[in-house]
This record gives sequence, structure tokens and C-alpha cells, in this order.
Amino acid sequence: MVTINDIKNSKKNGEKIVALTAYDFLTGYWVDKCGIDIVLVGDSLGMVIKGEENTLSVTLEEVIYHTKIVRKVVKNGFLVVDLPFGSFHITPEDTIKNCIRIIKETGANSVKIEGGKKRYELIKRIIESEIPVMGHIGLTPQSINVYGGYRVQGKSIKRAEELIEDAIYLEKAGCFSIVLELVPKEISKIITENVKIPTIGIGSGPYCDGQVLVFHDMLGMNPFADFKFLRKYANLSNEIETGITNYIKDVKNGNYPSMEESFTVNEKLRKYLEERYGSNTENK
Ligand code: KIV
Repeated sequence: MVTINDIKNSKKNGEKIVALTAYDFLTGYWVDKCGIDIVLVGDSLGMVIKGEENTLSVTLEEVIYHTKIVRKVVKNGFLVVDLPFGSFHITPEDTIKNCIRIIKETGANSVKIEGGKKRYELIKRIIESEIPVMGHIGLTPQSINVYGGYRVQGKSIKRAEELIEDAIYLEKAGCFSIVLELVPKEISKIITENVKIPTIGIGSGPYCDGQVLVFHDMLGMNPFADFKFLRKYANLSNEIETGITNYIKDVKNGNYPSMEESFTVNEKLRKYLEERYGSNTENK
């Protein structure tokens, strides 16, 4: 079972950390079976599961619901849950209550929170409640209305300095790792070299200590995901389309199901049914 210490030690040992999202039982099964280090119940479920344009509508109840399901089957990976928008923006007391609910009700190992320096005090409070925190800076999707779009962050001197400072504050607050989303590789490198905790990149280049992707995107089953940074390790969209199209064809043509794919009654019952209903159902 992957522990927080394994994740911290990975950086020291120069071993890359691999993370993927999971929101349901079978996805959890596959990522855990394949040996993913960190399984993230991300609020990207707002888009991938709920079909929303962004992550903002995701609720605490929804992340708890999905994490309970994923926990049933993730036995090896370190399970991290996103704090959804609104769950940590009111008071620190509410935030701690929400984090405790997540850990108690789902059995997850940690929470992830979006934002850097401005979350410093809050993150310290969550960690004081014995809950490990993964930070998340760069493009933080919950700030989409402030950013005005999903854009690479850190393109100006001011923003680059802010990101580096954010990472240093997250480490100081006690985060055990930091997600860097849509950060230019030069800045990810500086951050990765200047913090002792692992950086986990998404669209942030090769210098991060690990990588995270959305399961449905990296397997090519999300036709709406087409990003410069995304490598598709399978093309499940094609497989899915071919499979469903062939199923429709077979049912329409009477090719599915075949006799071999059907159940049958015993000879006595078959004879009875034939005499009673006159239906010739003799096995072919
Ligand atoms: O919600 C999510 O899936 C995430 C990852 C993409 C980092 O935050």
C-alpha cells in the first residue's frame, strides 16, 4: 500500500510518481490493478461525469459519493480527494468540518486544495487536524471565472514569481506534494528544484517529480479532450464507436443474440410449451 512516506521518499530516491483520476468502481479497479501511486477523485468529475462546462457545480456530497465507491476497490494507491469549490471558502471551521467528513465517510488518505500562498493558514489548520494536504497551483480550474479561460499560467515575470512563491508557501504550510497545472516547463523546473516535496505536473512538462492525467482523457475515450499536453495511450473512442455501431447492426439484422448466446429449457418443458402454445422452439 502506498503511504504518504512513499510519496515523499520518491522524490529523494529520484522515482517518478504516477497519478490518475478515478470516479467509479471499475476505473478505480483498473488504476489500482495497474499500480498507480496516487488515485485522485478529482472535481474534474464535474466535466467528465456530470457533463458540465467546468468544475464549479461539484458538491461535497458528490465527491464523498464518488470517493466511497472508489475506496471500495483502491487497495494499493494513495487516495486523494479534491475539496470542491465552496467547501473551503467560507470559514476555517467549516473547512475543517468538511475535510473531516471526507476522511471519516470515505476512507480517503488526503485532500487536495486549489490555491497557493493565500491558503497558507487554512492548509496549516487542515494538517493540524491530522489530514494530509496536496496543494494545487498554476491553472486552478475553480478560479476559471477569475482567469477568464483555461490558459497556461506564469507567462509574465509577476505571475512566474507568484507561482514560485506559492509553491514555497505550500511546502512551508506542510503540503506533502503540489500539483502544477499548465505551468511552463522552465517554471516547473525551478519550483521542483526549490521545494523538497514532490511536484506532480499536468501540462507542466518533464521536470516535475510526477505526472497526473484524467483517466478518460489519457485513454482517448473523451472526445472533448484535445490538449497539447495530452498523450493518448489508447484510442477507446474508436473502439467504443465501432462496438456500439456493430451492436446496433447485429440487433437490427437479427444477428444478435445467436442460439448459443441464449438460454434453453429442458426437453420436458419444451414439449409441454409446444403442446400448450404450439410454438416450435426445438433447439437448432
Ligand atoms: O480535478 C482533477 O482531476 C484535477 C487534476 C487534473 C489535477 O485536479
